[in-house]
Amino acid sequence: MIPVFRPSMGDAETNAVGEVLRSGWIGLGPKTKEFEDKFAAYMNCKYAVAMNSATAALHLAMAVMKVDGGEVITTPMTFVSTNHAILYNSAVPVFCDIEPDTLNIDADKIEALVTPLTKAIVVVHYGGYAVDMDKVLDIAKRRNLKVIEDAAHACGGEYKNRKLGTIGDIGCFSFHAVKNLATGDGGMVTTNDAAIYARLMKLRWVGISKDTWSREDTTTKAYSWYYNIEELGFKYHMNDITAAIGLVQLEKLDTMNRRRAEISRMYTEAFSSNKKIGLPVIKNYMTRPSCHNYVIKVEDRDGLNASLKQQGIATGVHYIPNNNYDMYKGFRGPTPVAGAVWKKLLTLPLFPDLKQKEIELIKSSVLDFIK
Ligand SMILES: Cc1ncc(COP(=O)(O)O)c(C=O)c1O
Repeated sequence: MIPVFRPSMGDAETNAVGEVLRSGWIGLGPKTKEFEDKFAAYMNCKYAVAMNSATAALHLAMAVMKVDGGEVITTPMTFVSTNHAILYNSAVPVFCDIEPDTLNIDADKIEALVTPLTKAIVVVHYGGYAVDMDKVLDIAKRRNLKVIEDAAHACGGEYKNRKLGTIGDIGCFSFHAVKNLATGDGGMVTTNDAAIYARLMKLRWVGISKDTWSREDTTTKAYSWYYNIEELGFKYHMNDITAAIGLVQLEKLDTMNRRRAEISRMYTEAFSSNKKIGLPVIKNYMTRPSCHNYVIKVEDRDGLNASLKQQGIATGVHYIPNNNYDMYKGFRGPTPVAGAVWKKLLTLPLFPDLKQKEIELIKSSVLDFIK
């Protein structure tokens, strides 16, 4: 079976993990700090805080944006963690409809949803194809709202030549097994604000005001055991085993993303003359999509899914609109575009190590079915 996603792992990742295991320090430590510093430099932002998932990153990003007790305008077309994070913070998700072509939040529909209770807008760069951030930032500025970027799909992607996840007030990344930069599990929050950074560093480790590594005096090796707890934090930080994989993956990220873009182009070339297949669109502001997934729109989605399965090709559906889930049904919407378009969505296999003969099989199998 050709999987929908597969991480690209090699000897460098294995060796990096081995080195950490032998070092005697496998928890939160120097590798995590190195990964944060290199990630911030790559993203061209001031601070990066490593977490154990994007779910944790989103939870804490919304906490430091102080959304509690308010409303957060959000998209239904996402993995549910985006919206769970709103609820973790005792805030209310307000679902904004999406653009039928990009599947991103429709920025032109956001302002009508703003109320005196609105505190923030969370955007998801679906598939790594940028949301039109200038429109979102304009509304946020005029209505005094925070902008949280869920860049789980978007590592390495750009909007008008700026890295996705560094354009709003705060950015959240996922390093889950199938993401563009994969560590098994992991996440990152990016910010340019020193006070937000300091608070995130505490909140990610149960509220402890200094991390273990910085408590170890590297010159005298004397262990400064004192720390304070200033507020209720969570056990959300990354460890050095994960960070070691992340460091290797970060080095390879641009190369892997270029390969994703190349495969996406091959699919688009093969399908573009067929009017029955809706394709990912690249708007002029999407200066560099991270090409996390390749999602087509077809009338008989379930038929195509079954047919590809018979050919040994796995597919996925990203996503069931979150306001279709029982626990999200009561929240304000409605989102008719998302409600209609999701029934056509099918995610084809896309990962850097996909072989040419697999790509050819996928292209011809899709075209044969559509014919
Ligand atoms: C858009 C989006 N947001 C958040 C998440 C949560 O990421 P994680 O699995 O790292 O918690 C995912 C993961 O699939 C995602 O796709």
